[in-house]
Amino acid sequence: MKALILVGGFGTRLRPLTLSVPKPLVDFANKPMILHQIEALKAIGVSEVVLAINYQPEVMLNFLKDFEAKLGIKITCSQETEPLGTAGPLALARDKLIDDSGEPFFVLNSDVISEYPLKEMIEFHKSHGGEASIMVTKVDEPSKYGVVVMEESTGQVERFVEKPKLFVGNKINAGIYLLNPSVLDRIELRPTSIEKEVFPKIAAQKQLYGMVLPGFWMDIGQPRDYITGLRLYLDSLRKKSPSKLSTGPHIVGNVLVDETSKIGEGCLIGPDVAIGPGCVVEAGVRLSRCTVMRGVRIKKHACISSSIIGWHSTVGQWARVENMTILGEDVHVCDEIYSNGGVVLPHKEIKSSILKPEIVM
Ligand code: GDD
Repeated sequence: MKALILVGGFGTRLRPLTLSVPKPLVDFANKPMILHQIEALKAIGVSEVVLAINYQPEVMLNFLKDFEAKLGIKITCSQETEPLGTAGPLALARDKLIDDSGEPFFVLNSDVISEYPLKEMIEFHKSHGGEASIMVTKVDEPSKYGVVVMEESTGQVERFVEKPKLFVGNKINAGIYLLNPSVLDRIELRPTSIEKEVFPKIAAQKQLYGMVLPGFWMDIGQPRDYITGLRLYLDSLRKKSPSKLSTGPHIVGNVLVDETSKIGEGCLIGPDVAIGPGCVVEAGVRLSRCTVMRGVRIKKHACISSSIIGWHSTVGQWARVENMTILGEDVHVCDEIYSNGGVVLPHKEIKSSILKPEIVM
């Protein structure tokens, strides 16, 4: 079975992290976002993942080469010379996606995180016999997504409306599809949107079915959602593989710490914290609702909440970092500094406090 991951866009909303790596390679819960998807695809027997990409393919492929061998899955690239939207890349990768088996293939948006119930999706797809299945989930603010109106008992989609201005429903497209090869016959090789041009037509012919996604879902393409997504992910890990989470008197709630990181005496960590590989958290540090990426040092008595600390940064002693502060790669926050929502570009040294949310260039 094959799968295609849509890896377009410049990830501007996750800057400054995406100034260092393409968005799919930004770490989430201690591994690059895209690896969560590739591992889930591999687990249900996908043999080849095609990355539909329109920039920096070398960076992605070089990085993923190691994982190809480790995971035993083929990872190839289909590169656009101009952005082809969310449907055009499928036409471009047509030859890679179809083979003699006539099997359906998966398509995933690259910045969504969930429990990936892909096996259940295959069953669902087989059971309805339609041309395409999409995973749907309920959200409070449907207007920024593709909204799906469907018949509850069968899942048959009546309407698909991308980013509706008026309320049509609260079930949205979760960005995970299983498509029959025949869907490719509906897509021309030009910039085109699967949400605006393809799904509405398949729905009109009653060939599109929605499966309500069990478990959590989040589009983690922006910092606030990324931090919420980490909470949901760790909650789900607590239910499915609790042994992966840290325990001890210094841990509160769900905390994921890479085994190569060191935590000092008298720290209080959690809830909803991920600490990546090779980090040093010195004595008396307080961390909650945050992500600390590979190689970070947090000095004594620093306090970090609701923030993302990019690779190889340092946070000085007694510093206080909060309210959606995002430190890019290799940022150094000096001792006793306060950051209230600072978004700091890579390689900066922060010597004076950031009192209100702002970008530090
Ligand atoms: N290769 C390629 N080329 N990929 C692209 C391109 C392109 O030109 N444009 C967008 N993509 C990729 C993005 O990287 C992302 O993985 C996916 O296609 C969706 O595009 P976005 O532009 O990020 O859409 P969105 O997040 O506003 O909305 C989409 O996701 C929602 C769920 O999070 C839609 O699919 C909505 O219907 C959906 O609800």
